[in-house]
Amino acid sequence: MITKQEQIILGIETSCDETAVSVIKNGTEILANIVSSQIESHKRFGGVVPEIASRHHVEQITIVFEEALKEAKVTWEEIDAIAVTEGPGLVGALLIGVNAAKALAFAHNIPIVSVHHIAGHIYANRLVAELHFPLIALVVSGGHTELVYMKEHGSYEVIGETRDDAAGEAYDKVARTLNLPYPGGPHIDRLAHEGEPSLDLPRAWLEADSYDFSFSGLKSAVINTLHNAKQRDEEIKSEDLAASFQESVIEVLITKTLKAAQAYNVKQVLLAGGVAANKGLRKRLNEAFNESGIELIIPPLSLCTDNAAMIAAAGSIEYEKGRRADMKLNGNPGLDLESFS
Ligand code: KG4
Ligand code: ZN
Repeated sequence: MITKQEQIILGIETSCDETAVSVIKNGTEILANIVSSQIESHKRFGGVVPEIASRHHVEQITIVFEEALKEAKVTWEEIDAIAVTEGPGLVGALLIGVNAAKALAFAHNIPIVSVHHIAGHIYANRLVAELHFPLIALVVSGGHTELVYMKEHGSYEVIGETRDDAAGEAYDKVARTLNLPYPGGPHIDRLAHEGEPSLDLPRAWLEADSYDFSFSGLKSAVINTLHNAKQRDEEIKSEDLAASFQESVIEVLITKTLKAAQAYNVKQVLLAGGVAANKGLRKRLNEAFNESGIELIIPPLSLCTDNAAMIAAAGSIEYEKGRRADMKLNGNPGLDLESFS
């Protein structure tokens, strides 16, 4: 039973290869968080195939909806708003979620709140702990690597971003070079723990005052190292290569995050995005922030990869701010985080 003062948000996420619906209470409490993953269907292609993703979303969305509402034990009358990912993502995939939101909003006379996918990843942290501002979020996903400064709820300033590949993209490409299945991040993470970071791979620090990242040089260095060893008939242990690659990624991510957190004098640092599931990154971030006096929040693995609870959590703040979308809402594959603020 939901009381009138409580805020109930239904979340929808279909930007890539997970069909997800959630219900959350008061912006922080998960009543249901159902995720239907399509990873198995994309694996044999070595990456997400947009047409297949859209088709799966169409097949799954109603089933996922019914399951979420049943688990949350809420009725349509109790739902204050529908929060849906507007972008960025695959346009055909986004459209399924956006159109589901519009149909349900129209049928049940409920407002729609559009949400930026990365804002969602950041707000996964509010399902773990209350946020204290100013804060910095390290966003590391398949499509993004960003340091985001937030002075208050719903305000996003990108102070650093990747100039080429995202961290997750580099993980997936290196994994493919090592003939590991898609998505490669978790496989590299596992191998890295079985090997030694014994190979000398580059770290792209860029200009001294820059919080930007670059991972394409590292990715090429991994490919060249493997290629050269093959030509010389030398054997390189995949475990050592994975460990050396991971060490390089983690060292740059943590050094820049710590520096930014101190320079901006923040109260909290949040970790967000699919790569936040990385065990090495989680452990080393904990160690790095342990004595810094800055609180570090890391969501559980289930909230790091794409889900709709994080979309509802970001939507809850946007709903309070008065943000509303109408029936003209469209999927926006290139939606910008700062202009979404
Ligand atoms: O945030 P996400 O689910 O999708 C996007 O919004 O992009 O992130 C997916 C990315 C993939 O590149 C995947 O390989 C990576 O997160 N990933 C990991 C780990 N688990 C997932 N990368 C490194 N270590 C992991 N344990
Ligand atoms: Zn994501």
